[in-house]
Amino acid sequence: MSSPLQSTPVVLVTGGTGLVGYALRHVIETELVGSRYGRREGEQWVFVSSKEADLRDPEQTRRLFEKYKPTHVIHLAALVGGLYKNMKYKLSFLRDNTLINDNVLHFAHATGVSKVISCLSTCVFPDKVSYPLDETKIHLGLPHESNFGYAHAKRMVDVANHAYKDQFGSNFTAAIPTNIFGPNDNFDLEDSHVIPALIHKCFLAKRNNTPFAVSGSGKPLRQFIYSYDLAKLLIWQLREYDDVEPVILSVGEDEELSIKQVADAVVNAIGFEGEYTFDTSRADGQFRKPASNKKLLSQLHDDFAFTPFDSALHDTVRWFVDNYDHARTGNVKGKEQLRDAPIATHTKVVAMNGSH
Ligand SMILES: NC(=O)c1ccc[n+]([C@@H]2O[C@H](COP(=O)([O-])OP(=O)(O)OC[C@H]3O[C@@H](n4cnc5c(N)ncnc54)[C@H](OP(=O)(O)O)[C@@H]3O)[C@@H](O)[C@H]2O)c1
Repeated sequence: MSSPLQSTPVVLVTGGTGLVGYALRHVIETELVGSRYGRREGEQWVFVSSKEADLRDPEQTRRLFEKYKPTHVIHLAALVGGLYKNMKYKLSFLRDNTLINDNVLHFAHATGVSKVISCLSTCVFPDKVSYPLDETKIHLGLPHESNFGYAHAKRMVDVANHAYKDQFGSNFTAAIPTNIFGPNDNFDLEDSHVIPALIHKCFLAKRNNTPFAVSGSGKPLRQFIYSYDLAKLLIWQLREYDDVEPVILSVGEDEELSIKQVADAVVNAIGFEGEYTFDTSRADGQFRKPASNKKLLSQLHDDFAFTPFDSALHDTVRWFVDNYDHARTGNVKGKEQLRDAPIATHTKVVAMNGSH
């Protein structure tokens, strides 16, 4: 996996302190060295946050690449948020993510990085398109208006990957995960995705003995992937998948869950027994957007055991309860938030080599 210029592979993970970065680090630290998802002998993994370099800024991005000299990049850094944040800050989602992606791909190319996996999202797909979604349908129509800023910025990564390949032969590609959840998610009540928001709300409802109000009708359907499963699939893609066309990383389309089913599971995992309602005055977003994982399964050449939803949700709830004082929960606690969860507090950047 090393580039011709460097014998030691260095995998730079942008967005290394977020939900997916945390999961990648967990997997690379806990899987057997040399196994399919484990660290390879001599390989270094570097996880960086915006504190190390604001990737919207070309000069900071250039210095980051100069400092670590990565041979491979898993590019996760993005302005990320749930439905309501996306609806409120469309220009920020478009502009920040466009700048971040352009800088990362440009300096990856300029410094001779041999492979980049960037993270898209099923939000990139057109609003009006035949289901199930698959990798060939990204550009077939306009995205849903609720997240068009984020969606357009992310789509352009796929366009850029093709342009880098056509002009320079670059090995840049993308992953398209469905909704992700797991430890170290952003549990902000307003700005986060549905699962962390529900977990936090239900936790507070239980603690304060107040009703648990779920935003929206509870009817929309979504596919959810556990962040630790996604991390393994990203590692697979980095090592074993060499094609510019992106791959949807997801559970099967027959595993859609309604928001009500998710809320029921959260109630169960938290052990909440109070009043539980749906606030239908809040937007629902797209009703459903089932995505096919056929390409993924055909390329893996092996069975992949996705963690059962209830078990992954229980682990996520347990992590949130155990880490409430460190978790990203917005301003609800009325104090400055620690952006990094415990695993990341001792140092922002971890170079993992044989001695670590
Ligand atoms: N969460 C989902 O459900 C979901 C679904 C589909 C796709 N995705 C994609 O998956 C990737 C990872 O998402 P996530 O959920 O792990 O996000 P997250 O928890 O919000 O973490 C975002 C990461 O990006 C970094 N970042 C943000 N702005 C930056 C900037 N200007 N410069 C440098 N770094 C910056 C953050 O650094 P700080 O810690 O310093 O803020 C953090 O490490 C993203 O590309 C996202 O679009 C997410």
